[in-house]
Amino acid sequence: MPRRLLTDDEWEQFWRHGSVTTFERSGNPNYDGEIREFWERQFATLREGARIVDLATGNGAVALLAAEYSAAHDRQFRVDALDRAGIRPEKDLKEAEAAREWLKSVRFRGGAPNECTGLERECADLVTSQYGFEYGDPSASAREAMRILKPGGRIALITHHANSVVVREAREGLEQHRLCLGREQLLTRARRVVDAMASAESDFEKRMLKHDARTENLRRKLNAAVARVQQQAGQFSDPGNGIGFVLNGLQAVFAPRLQATERRATIRRLREASDAYCRRMEDLLAATPDAGEFDRLLEHLRSAGLIVDGWFPLVYRGEALMGWAVAGRKPRAEDAAAME
Ligand SMILES: C[S@@+](CC[C@H](N)C(=O)[O-])C[C@H]1O[C@@H](n2cnc3c(N)ncnc32)[C@H](O)[C@@H]1O
Repeated sequence: MPRRLLTDDEWEQFWRHGSVTTFERSGNPNYDGEIREFWERQFATLREGARIVDLATGNGAVALLAAEYSAAHDRQFRVDALDRAGIRPEKDLKEAEAAREWLKSVRFRGGAPNECTGLERECADLVTSQYGFEYGDPSASAREAMRILKPGGRIALITHHANSVVVREAREGLEQHRLCLGREQLLTRARRVVDAMASAESDFEKRMLKHDARTENLRRKLNAAVARVQQQAGQFSDPGNGIGFVLNGLQAVFAPRLQATERRATIRRLREASDAYCRRMEDLLAATPDAGEFDRLLEHLRSAGLIVDGWFPLVYRGEALMGWAVAGRKPRAEDAAAME
């Protein structure tokens, strides 16, 4: 399947919603648990004044963790947070109050691809990226990381993993949205019912609608489609992830006392939200390296001249596989001599 990635504009739109990470449904907190611990272990290796460059930063989740660590450990870091899309977390982050303090100490810059950051060479002590490195060209990004790292500087990545819960949820979410909007055409059917209802103008005509065979037929078809979707909900580990979203949305469409224009607008918003979600999940699946691609990603780091110290499947809360964690470094002159 060809890689169908989101455009910078689409990412920009997404970050405007104000979540810290892409996991919007979990109440909008920053990464925690083993993910946060992984990043804190990387920050712990840094001295006062060290410079961190976070690639494909989005709304700055990892950069904000670095700033928070810096403040908590009374160790000043300089944090650059870059993304190819036009990000502006200072304005957009919903959690701005909690993050405000950390935001001040991070320099955000959009229009800065992983492959060509615009930073000076050998400026960084640590290059980081979570769910970001694999979105770009890994070969060019590895060469750029090598260029901006100081000798002895380190690189740490968390990438998607083909068997992670993130990927499984993305697949399931996509399937649910396709079932609701594609196969069962719930929004199209809802729109037909709304249009038929709209033809009734007076109160009397509205009351008579339930005796109108065409409207009733459309309503019956919609209800039958909803029932089929509900029957299939049990096959998904989290039916809220798509089916719940669409069915709750339908309730809002048919809430009492709405004008037809409001019902249509609700349908339009639901469709747009569903399309945007599907596009993002397709993007995530396209960016996720399979086993061979992950090996090649490591090979790109090595070919660029970096030493890969290790990698491991990152497990969250003791059970949820979240991705691959990778740690490496740029050799110092003495490392390079020893390797010859
Ligand atoms: C899944 S988000 C991850 C954001 C953030 N690191 C996080 O963990 O919340 C992927 C991000 O990669 C950015 N991106 C995609 N391709 C890129 C590239 N070639 N260079 C830099 N950023 C890129 C997107 O704009 C998006 O913000």
